[in-house]
Amino acid sequence: MMLLYNVVLILSVIGASTSFTTPTCPRGDYHKETPSAETHLQACKQYTCDSCCFENITIELASVPIAQVGKLDYHQCSKQLTDACSNQHTYLQCLYQCSPNLYPWMGKVTRIPNSIPLCSNFCDQWYLTCQADMTCAPGVGNWKTGLNKGFDADGNPVNPCKDGVMCRNYTEVYGSGQALCENIWGTMFTYTTDTTNCIDPSDPAHNAKFVESLNSTFTSSVCAPVEYVDAGMIVGIVFGVLAALGLIAAGVVFYMRQKKSKG
Ligand SMILES: *[C@@H]1O[C@H](CO)[C@@H](O)[C@H](O)[C@H]1NC(C)=O
Ligand SMILES: *[C@@H]1O[C@H](CO)[C@@H](O)[C@H](O)[C@H]1NC(C)=O
Ligand SMILES: *[C@@H]1O[C@H](CO)[C@@H](O)[C@H](O)[C@H]1NC(C)=O
Repeated sequence: MMLLYNVVLILSVIGASTSFTTPTCPRGDYHKETPSAETHLQACKQYTCDSCCFENITIELASVPIAQVGKLDYHQCSKQLTDACSNQHTYLQCLYQCSPNLYPWMGKVTRIPNSIPLCSNFCDQWYLTCQADMTCAPGVGNWKTGLNKGFDADGNPVNPCKDGVMCRNYTEVYGSGQALCENIWGTMFTYTTDTTNCIDPSDPAHNAKFVESLNSTFTSSVCAPVEYVDAGMIVGIVFGVLAALGLIAAGVVFYMRQKKSKG
C-alpha cells in the first residue's frame, strides 16, 4: 500500500514537473544555459549581475530606435519606430533575452517561455506609445509568424514585410494594450490586471518578488539599480569643491590680515 502510494506520488511529481523550478534560460541564439553575471552589457544593464543573455544581443538593443534585433529588422513599412515606442520594445526584448527570472513559464522540452502574465499597466503604456507606429504583420499582428526574418545573400537584413501585405498603425491592428500583448509574440504573453502577480518588463525588482511568491523553493535575483552619474552632476561637484576651497582661502587671508593689523 505504502509502495503504491509512493509510486503514485513519484509519477505525479514527474507529470507535474513540466516547467523549470530553478533558474534556467530560454533557448535562443543569444541565450546562455543558465544565468550568470555579464559585466559588459551595452543595454539591458538592469540584468548585469545575473543575465541570461550574452553581450552580443545588447549591442543591437543599445540603439534608439532599435533596428536589427537578431534576425528581425524592426523597420517596418520603411519607417523607424518612434523613440518612445522603441523603448517599450527594448524593455520586452531585454526581459526575453536577459532576465534570469522567466524559468517558471518555460516548457522543459522547448525552453520557450509561454503565457507570461504581463502587467496591464505595461501593456497599456506600450500600446499608448506605439499607437501611431506602423506594422505590416497581417491579421491580429503576430510578429512571430507574420513577418520575414533573416538575411539575403549579401548579408543585408530582408524586408520584414511580406509581399502584398498592408501597412497599418497599432491602433488599427491591435486597438488595445491587451490585444497588443496577447498577439504580437504569439502565445508568449498574457495580459493581467492583477498588479501584484504579474511581470513588468520595466521593473525587475517587482518581477523577482513575484517569482519568489510563486513557490517557496523558487529563487530569483535582482541587480542593484544602475547608477547614472551624468556630466552635469560632475561639473556641479567640481565647481562646488572649487568654491569651498576659495572660501577657505579667503577666510585664511582675512584671518592673516586681522592678525597683522592687530600686531
Ligand atoms: C553571441 O555570443 C555568444 C558568446 O560569445 C556566442 O556563443 C553566440 O553564438 C553569439 N550569438 C550570435 C547569434 O552571434
Ligand atoms: C491610424 O490609422 C488610421 C487609418 O489610417 C487613422 O485614421 C488614425 O488616425 C491612425 N491613428 C494614429 C494614432 O495615428
Ligand atoms: C513548489 O516546488 C516544488 C518543487 O519544485 C514542488 O514539489 C511543489 O509542489 C511546489 N509547491 C507549490 C505550492 O506549487
